[in-house]
Amino acid sequence: MNPTVEIAGITFPTCIMNAAGARCVTAEELEAIGNSRSGAIVTKSMTLNARDGNPTPRYVTFPHGSINSMGLPNLGYQAYVDLIPRLKEFKKPVIASIAGFSPAEFLDIATAIDAVKPDLMEINLSCPNIEGHPQIAYDFETAEQLLTRIRNVVNRPMGAKLPPYFDPAHHDHMATILKRCGVNFISVINSIGNGLVINPETDAVIIKPKGGFGGLGGAIIKPVALANVRAFALRFQGHIPIIGVGGIETGQDIYEHLLAGASAVQIGTAFVEEGPQVFVRLEQELTTIVERKGLRSATEAVGRLKEF
Ligand code: DHB
Repeated sequence: MNPTVEIAGITFPTCIMNAAGARCVTAEELEAIGNSRSGAIVTKSMTLNARDGNPTPRYVTFPHGSINSMGLPNLGYQAYVDLIPRLKEFKKPVIASIAGFSPAEFLDIATAIDAVKPDLMEINLSCPNIEGHPQIAYDFETAEQLLTRIRNVVNRPMGAKLPPYFDPAHHDHMATILKRCGVNFISVINSIGNGLVINPETDAVIIKPKGGFGGLGGAIIKPVALANVRAFALRFQGHIPIIGVGGIETGQDIYEHLLAGASAVQIGTAFVEEGPQVFVRLEQELTTIVERKGLRSATEAVGRLKEF
């Protein structure tokens, strides 16, 4: 089976990579991803200044899911400007995830990062965890203005990291915007923002920031992730490739993301829980399924979901 995939003209050795945020803040973590079977190295969303993030506990698992309110801990974009050339030596695509607290910050970071030539840039429009900063992608006008301005300063392939949408009218609207803004790919979905998990033993919330509200990940979010991959795939008809994110724990979960229309996938909670070995296991499990289906590559499954 041919394990490689192509997204926005960039060849990936496999379709399985880490999700932004999962074990990808420090040089050591990013190098561990470089040394793993991950098909790319995706950075934590970087901000203008270095950040320690929110108070702990800020990431906790519960049955079939995780909740986090990390608060964008990262080294600040300048550290990643210095790191990216080294990360490119691992000979797999490097995806720089960027996040700003204003359009000016996004533009400064995007300009500086573009200059060191990551293979792709992922624009995070969907961080749910910063008080006073709503998820940009839920404000369609602001999102379009921001993407248009970033497109003007970025020469590398760039994509948008989107939150889940829950109504077809919103899929329609965002898909139209993304086509107008010239994005080269999308990654869907970010965590389902502002969930609340309660510990039945203590009657208490399980993470400290924001009174216990945080982004949900893990197996419980897979149906929402698949729906969003499918909704955008139907609207893009192959013109904008999709990286599927959300709820992947097994090769079968990856295969379902491919059927829904993802060309590649990112692993968040399962990578945090299992470490770099998760990429080996998932690749084996996916290969078994793809071969059993009689396909020559994962790409052959993309968008092949049957409807009644
Ligand atoms: C964080 C969480 C996210 O889901 C995201 O997109 C960006 C940042 C965080 O809390 O660090």
